Amino acid sequence: MHKRDLIDLADLRPSELADIVRFAGEISENPSYYKGAAQHKILATLFYEPSTRTSMSFQAAMLRLGGSLIGFDDPSNSSVAKGESLKDTVRVFSNYADVLAIRSPWEGAAMAASLYTRCPVINAGDGGHLHPTQTLTDLTTLNYTLGRLENLTIGLCGDNKNGRTVHSLVKTMSRLKGNRFVIISTPELTLPQYLHDEILANGCTMEFSDSLEEAIGKLDMLYMTRIQKERFPSVEEYEKNKGVFILDRQKMRLAKEDMCVLHPLPRVDEIAVEVDDDPRAAYFAQTEYGMYARMALIQRITERVDRSVPSTLESTHAKRCKNPRCITTQEHYLPRLFDEKGGKLLCRYCEHKL
Ligand code: NCD
Repeated sequence: MHKRDLIDLADLRPSELADIVRFAGEISENPSYYKGAAQHKILATLFYEPSTRTSMSFQAAMLRLGGSLIGFDDPSNSSVAKGESLKDTVRVFSNYADVLAIRSPWEGAAMAASLYTRCPVINAGDGGHLHPTQTLTDLTTLNYTLGRLENLTIGLCGDNKNGRTVHSLVKTMSRLKGNRFVIISTPELTLPQYLHDEILANGCTMEFSDSLEEAIGKLDMLYMTRIQKERFPSVEEYEKNKGVFILDRQKMRLAKEDMCVLHPLPRVDEIAVEVDDDPRAAYFAQTEYGMYARMALIQRITERVDRSVPSTLESTHAKRCKNPRCITTQEHYLPRLFDEKGGKLLCRYCEHKL
């Protein structure tokens, strides 16, 4: 990998992305061949937010590679509870570990962490922003089930506003040739504007639908997501949006015979349990591919050994990011970094427009 960290899959060259997906597939065919590949290496998992699959699959991946683990999954048991800054925590962990995987409720947290560590940082989910290793999981699963990642009609159904797995998937799959997106959600939970812009700028097409029944027949892949309760400002807002789209056996009858259903999980009620036995339901196989994708990533990201702390960055602008969920609103020492894109200034941490 030409970059040290994995914050956003857009940081990878297309050939690097293809290599990781291909390598994950290779590992899935003979995982025990790689049992010593990360011997004597340590992965630190810093989870500031609940997780089942991501943290467990990172841990299982490292153990299957013969490596070891340190970390926390409840920041109240660490010095974070004493008021330690993100910068100090990650700097210290990077003295102990060879690679850090970090999940935070704050958008841009992994990118912020990468400014202060002596080892590579993997973004394991930053608030409602991105979740690149879930996308590696999704691509590896798709490659195996559909045999291709291009020229697909992709339905995104559920919480397209707050679902970081959707955001990473859209950013990545809109860079691959000929993909079309069908956004299926309530108007309140549609995709953020910057991702609309990204889809169009990458030359892909996009349409909107408020009916899963109407849209499902044209899809090659249906990506279902739960409504992200924890990211709503109030319970009332959440109640208005939950339970609107439910995939059940009846709707599956309208779908193509080889359509593939993915879901990052956890599921709440958006896929009826009766769909689980449908051969097109790939969401449990997806969890296993996630482990192979992380085994591939850990090997690639630890290939280069560079133990220096990155040099300090200066703020590019005097203003602060206005996104209340941006990590810069929490950690005030962070440099204010903005990049120009399409004539707009975007926060480098969370991609919100200034
Ligand atoms: C997702 C996440 O945490 O963003 N789960 C996962 O990592 N597999 C999806 C979710 O929480 O809805």
